[in-house]
Amino acid sequence: MMKIVSKVSEMLAIQKDLLRPVGLVPTMGALHIGHESLINQSLKDNNSTVVSIFVNPSQFNAAADLEKYPKPLNADLALLEKAGVDIAFLPDNEEMYPKGFETWIEAEKTSVILEGQSRPGHFKGVATIVTKLFNIVKPDKAYFGQKDAQQLNIIKRLNEDLNLFVSIIDMPTIRDENGLAVSSRNAFLTDAERDAAHILFQSLSQAKEMIMEGKYDAGIIRNRITKMLGGSDLISVDYVSISKLRSLEELTIIEKPVLISLAVIINNTRLIDNIIVE
Ligand code: PAJ
Repeated sequence: MMKIVSKVSEMLAIQKDLLRPVGLVPTMGALHIGHESLINQSLKDNNSTVVSIFVNPSQFNAAADLEKYPKPLNADLALLEKAGVDIAFLPDNEEMYPKGFETWIEAEKTSVILEGQSRPGHFKGVATIVTKLFNIVKPDKAYFGQKDAQQLNIIKRLNEDLNLFVSIIDMPTIRDENGLAVSSRNAFLTDAERDAAHILFQSLSQAKEMIMEGKYDAGIIRNRITKMLGGSDLISVDYVSISKLRSLEELTIIEKPVLISLAVIINNTRLIDNIIVE
């Protein structure tokens, strides 16, 4: 039987008796096959799996975005129960940010570029909530998707910098049959917008191919992607980045392993995707 825990104090108490190793999958709910792949990996690797669902207000920089974030709690709980998860941790805002809360975790450099530039404060919210979840659940392993590559970098960084000693497991991006990275935000797209969004992965794949063929001028590759994305009236490009995988330092000449990442806006819906060339 899955246990539903909503209090930090209860989670702390239960955590002590969990069979180790313990895997943690942090989520904001609206669970889909991307989340499921993380959960299934944790179930395979560990004797206990905790999945947290918390729509973390501090990582939303637009109130409207937080407001419209889907919250299908019953469907989520049914999915977790069916998967065989041991504990669903569902704290509320008062539990995570009680009155007087004022201490934040922030990655100095990597949190202000790319996603951080368009979403000020976003990664400060992510880094803080993930640190809190690690401290409350005390997992041996924690699972994160490569889909959110910059988030993954920042979490690996903070785990090292703050000596949290959690094994961070990165999981490949789950895509639909046409390559679109699965995301709860895809639900906001019309059919035409969804079709248009397939160019994201196509352009990334094309870029990867160019690098594999030995084209090492990052500017040319960046332009190629921007041009492909620009082919659709529905898409407006926020950024196209070609960076070092670990430091996210922008490159002029390709140095592998390289991260090619992009963000676009389709009718108010922000979509991100990326690909790694090893
Ligand atoms: P959320 O967007 O719910 O994602 C939870 C986890 O699922 C993240 O690690 C994310 O990278 C992963 N994920 C999402 N879509 C995926 C896909 N298509 N394939 C593989 N993995 C995918 O990311 C967050 O929540 C929050 O920032 C959180 C880490 C929970 C902190 O609040």
